[in-house]
Amino acid sequence: MKFLITGGAGFIGSYLSEKLLAEGHEVIALDNLSTGTQENIAHLTKNSSFHFVEGSVMDKEILSKSAEGVQGIFHLAAAVGVKFVMENLVTSMEVNVKGTENVLETALKLGGIKVLITSSSEVYGKSSKKRFHEEDDLIIGPPHKFRWSYATSKLLDEFLALSYHAERNLPVTIVRLFNICGPRQTGRYGMVIPRFVRQALKGEPITVYGSGKQLRSFAHVKDAVEGMAKLMLEPAAEGKIFNLGNPRGITIEELAIKIKEMTRSKSPITYLPYEEVYGPHFEDLMYRVPDINHAKAVIGFMPRYHLEDILTETVEYFRSK
Ligand SMILES: NC(=O)c1ccc[n+]([C@@H]2O[C@H](COP(=O)([O-])OP(=O)(O)OC[C@H]3O[C@@H](n4cnc5c(N)ncnc54)[C@H](O)[C@@H]3O)[C@@H](O)[C@H]2O)c1
Repeated sequence: MKFLITGGAGFIGSYLSEKLLAEGHEVIALDNLSTGTQENIAHLTKNSSFHFVEGSVMDKEILSKSAEGVQGIFHLAAAVGVKFVMENLVTSMEVNVKGTENVLETALKLGGIKVLITSSSEVYGKSSKKRFHEEDDLIIGPPHKFRWSYATSKLLDEFLALSYHAERNLPVTIVRLFNICGPRQTGRYGMVIPRFVRQALKGEPITVYGSGKQLRSFAHVKDAVEGMAKLMLEPAAEGKIFNLGNPRGITIEELAIKIKEMTRSKSPITYLPYEEVYGPHFEDLMYRVPDINHAKAVIGFMPRYHLEDILTETVEYFRSK
C-alpha cells in the first residue's frame, strides 16, 4: 500500500516511516522541517519506496499532490508540545487547526482516503482521574491560560475529524498519544526524558518542575507506531478514539532518580516552580496515565517495551551524539 505521513521527518513520523517501509509499503513523507530534521530520515532516503516532500500542510496544492494515489494519511504534522505552542501561539493554532482541516478536506476530495489523526493526552486536561479513558469528560482550563492552547487545538482536530466522519462518511481514526519517547526525540521543546538525560550526562542539575510528585507514563515510540499502523488498517477503528501509551505510571521525581542512577551522574536533582519555567499562564496536573483497554480490545494493543528500555536507548543515543 501507499501512505502519506504528514510530519514524516519528525520524531514519531520517522519511526512510522521505518515501520511501514519494513512492512513493504510505499511512504510519502511531507514535512516543512520546522521541528523535524533531515537527519531523522537520512537512513531512509536510499529506500526507493520512501519519498520525502519538503512542504507544509498549510499549502493545499502540495498536500493534494502528496496525497494522490495513497490509501491512507497519517496526520502527524503539528506544532508539538505545550512549551513550543506557548512560545508560538498564533502559528501553532493555525497549523494545528487549519492544517488538520486541510488534510481532512484533501482526503475527502480525493475520494475518501482514510485519515489517522494524532491527538494528545493533553486533551484530558485537569482531570483528577488516575487513569484516563476515552469516554471521560475533558476538563480544560480557560483561554487566558495559554497552557491549554495545545490541548484545545488538538481537541478541535478531534471534533473536526469526527464531524467529517459523521456527516461526510470520511473514514477517520483518532489516537491520543501519551508521552511517546525514544532515541531521536529532542529535548529542545521541554520533553522530560531527553531533557533529564542530557542534564545527567553533562553533569548539570536535573531540574524537576513542580513537586515532582506528578504521575506520568512513558511509551516507546516503536510501540506507538505499531498501534498506529494497525489502527490505520482496522475498519472497526473508524470513527473512534484510542489512547496509545504505556499504562505503567512513575512520578517525575522517581524518573529523575532513575536517570541519575542509570547514567551514574553526579548531577544534583533540583526543583523549579512551574511559573519560573513557563510563566504565569501555566498550571500542571497530577495524573497522566492511559487506560489502553479500547486499543487492546480492537487491535490487541499491548506495549512491548518498558521504561528501562526507553531510558537505556535514549542514554545511548545522547552518548553517541
Ligand atoms: N511525542 C509525543 O509524546 C506526543 C504526544 C502527544 C501527541 N503527539 C503528536 O504526535 C505528532 C508527532 O509528534 P512528534 O513527537 O513526532 O513531534 P515532532 O515535532 O518531531 O513532529 C512533528 C513534525 O511535523 C512537522 N511539521 C510541523 N508543522 C508542519 C507543517 N505546517 N507542515 C508540514 N510539516 C509540519 C515538523 O517539522 C515535525 O517533523 C504531533 O501531531 C504531536 O502533536 C506527540
